[in-house]
Amino acid sequence: MAIDYSHQRPVPGSDSHNMSHPLDLDDDRSDSDTSEDIVELSADEIPGYFQERGGRLFHSHGSCPYPLPVDAEEQQVRRTSPSVLSPARQNGLHQLLRKLTGALSVGPVHDVLTHLPGEQRRVLDLGTGTGSWVLDMAREFPDVRFYGVDIGTPRTVPIATRYPPRNVQFEMHDIKEQFRYDTGALDMVHARSITMAIRDYGALLPEIARVLRSGGLFVSCEWGRRPALADGSEVATRAPRAVAFFQAVKDTLLERRGIQTIADRIPQLLADSGDFTHIVARTYHMPIGDWHPNVDMQELGREYRDMVELYARSMRAVLLDGRWAAHADSLVQGYIDEIWSVRGLVSICYTVYAKRR
Ligand SMILES: C[S@@+](CC[C@H](N)C(=O)[O-])C[C@H]1O[C@@H](n2cnc3c(N)ncnc32)[C@H](O)[C@@H]1O
Repeated sequence: MAIDYSHQRPVPGSDSHNMSHPLDLDDDRSDSDTSEDIVELSADEIPGYFQERGGRLFHSHGSCPYPLPVDAEEQQVRRTSPSVLSPARQNGLHQLLRKLTGALSVGPVHDVLTHLPGEQRRVLDLGTGTGSWVLDMAREFPDVRFYGVDIGTPRTVPIATRYPPRNVQFEMHDIKEQFRYDTGALDMVHARSITMAIRDYGALLPEIARVLRSGGLFVSCEWGRRPALADGSEVATRAPRAVAFFQAVKDTLLERRGIQTIADRIPQLLADSGDFTHIVARTYHMPIGDWHPNVDMQELGREYRDMVELYARSMRAVLLDGRWAAHADSLVQGYIDEIWSVRGLVSICYTVYAKRR
């Protein structure tokens, strides 16, 4: 299977989208929102799903390798001054990625989600987090039904919306388990930044293939876990502390949690699965800091640097858990120092889309 690889120059796109109101969609299938498989958690059950460590909130599911906090600083908003609330890491990243790529998703999304009379289109978002992608997509495609699944969803994390629009449903689900949807029931499956949620990405693909209809679309978007320079020059020379930070993160994730660094290998996993065709991979470079000659990209880079700093601070908890624990603070600080001082640093965003055979 041939894979089409390309690198897209960053183009900050317009942020406009359709604000029409979603329809109240009846859904009378066996996999519908009213399925008896779905049970709503009560408020007093919520604390049982989380644990506090070092002043941050984490998942407490026994087999879940996911290492990052799931609190307000990581997920939704943070207070940057007494009167200003800024988007925290996950919601902030969502907005910046949209500007970088000029869209909510790569791939022929409009073709796949075209409304046909008598047919209900359905989209599933894996590891939906705050649900920011689902909520924006639901505004753009008000006739489409969206499901966002997470091991701890916006319904269970009290900082996020418990009252989504009528064409959106958030559900608690561990993506290592079989989905509740019928075979071929979905038109699109979207998975963004989930490589820390699972140990074996390849094992997830047959289940994604099962729930997608023939011609349905799978879209993945993952950040590379390594620093890079926009001009392709040797990063170890100009940003050695960034390199050291990521090496320690990768070692700790693998040794302590069995999490591999595979963003650039997903196209090949899709090809190897045999279930997908028309596999198109594309990378985007997100500038870190305001070094870029283009004014829009400078603004993007400035905002993204804030997100990277939050990421580095969230990763401190991960590093404290492994063989780099004694150096956790200096590794984090070293990376933060370099994102403020080294010009030309970028993060690489790996995207791929593929059609179900
Ligand atoms: C880095 S966040 C990405 C959130 C969202 N996809 C986005 O791009 O904004 C990863 C999410 O995966 C969720 N997660 C971790 N392990 C999971 C599992 N086994 N099943 C479902 N979701 C999981 C976490 O709770 C978290 O919300």
